[in-house]
Amino acid sequence: MEEKYLAACEYIKNRTKFRPEVAVILGSGLGDFAERFNNAEHVSYKDIPYFPTSTVEGHAGKFVISENVMCMQGRVHYYEGYKMEDVTFAIRVMHIFGIKKIIITNAAGGVNKSFNPGDLMIITDHINMMGTNPLIGKNIDIFGPRFPDMSEAYNKDLIKIAEKCAAENNIETKKGVYISMTGPSFETPAEIKMASILGADAVGMSTVPEVIVANHCGMKVLGISCITNMAAGVSQKPLCHEEVIETGNAVKSKFAVLIQSILDNII
Ligand code: HPA
Repeated sequence: MEEKYLAACEYIKNRTKFRPEVAVILGSGLGDFAERFNNAEHVSYKDIPYFPTSTVEGHAGKFVISENVMCMQGRVHYYEGYKMEDVTFAIRVMHIFGIKKIIITNAAGGVNKSFNPGDLMIITDHINMMGTNPLIGKNIDIFGPRFPDMSEAYNKDLIKIAEKCAAENNIETKKGVYISMTGPSFETPAEIKMASILGADAVGMSTVPEVIVANHCGMKVLGISCITNMAAGVSQKPLCHEEVIETGNAVKSKFAVLIQSILDNII
């Protein structure tokens, strides 16, 4: 089983001379950020042994690897039918590659009524409502312990840096708790009311599995949600994936300034 991760990592290492220690996972509609790295090596997921490939619009499906940053343009989701092991495969490959810090981004629905579409939310914590956990099964001790601590799943120092970078660039950010649902159906208004009562500020269909596995293998995690729409019932409007992609596009310059500024502070 470990061989798969090693084979995938070896393939990537053979495709690039760069050995960054910081990674960014770009969520739905946010993939354009990776285009700024001019001399980067592009490695398509489909060419990497054992690597799962995404079927969703807005997810390009490749690594963009530059001297100091490894970007993932697109990810795979649980709702696509992948096993949790596949959803989090990339995290373990990046760990073996040498990634120590990771910025995990996503598109999310706003549960907190004070949010607006286009807001960026720094994730302070999460609630796993996917009904499963990517670490279920035999523990792979080389990655981490059987019962990993999750009391600081989102690294406090990275949160402070993100807030400082936002302030320096006059970007207003929110902070809050991300709740993960499996999807692919958007939530019902009753489910969003529940999410709100449970303490969630934003809702989405990704991130939590990756954050659990990243913590398991000792990576420092920063999470950023782009609030692409207000969640069901918070807004009376029907939800659609096009709105998610459109808002992603509308905020991409603000998003890029923030992520670049954070990268400049942590690499
Ligand atoms: N719900 C779940 N996932 C999402 C949403 C939402 O409203 N918006 C973007 N991803």
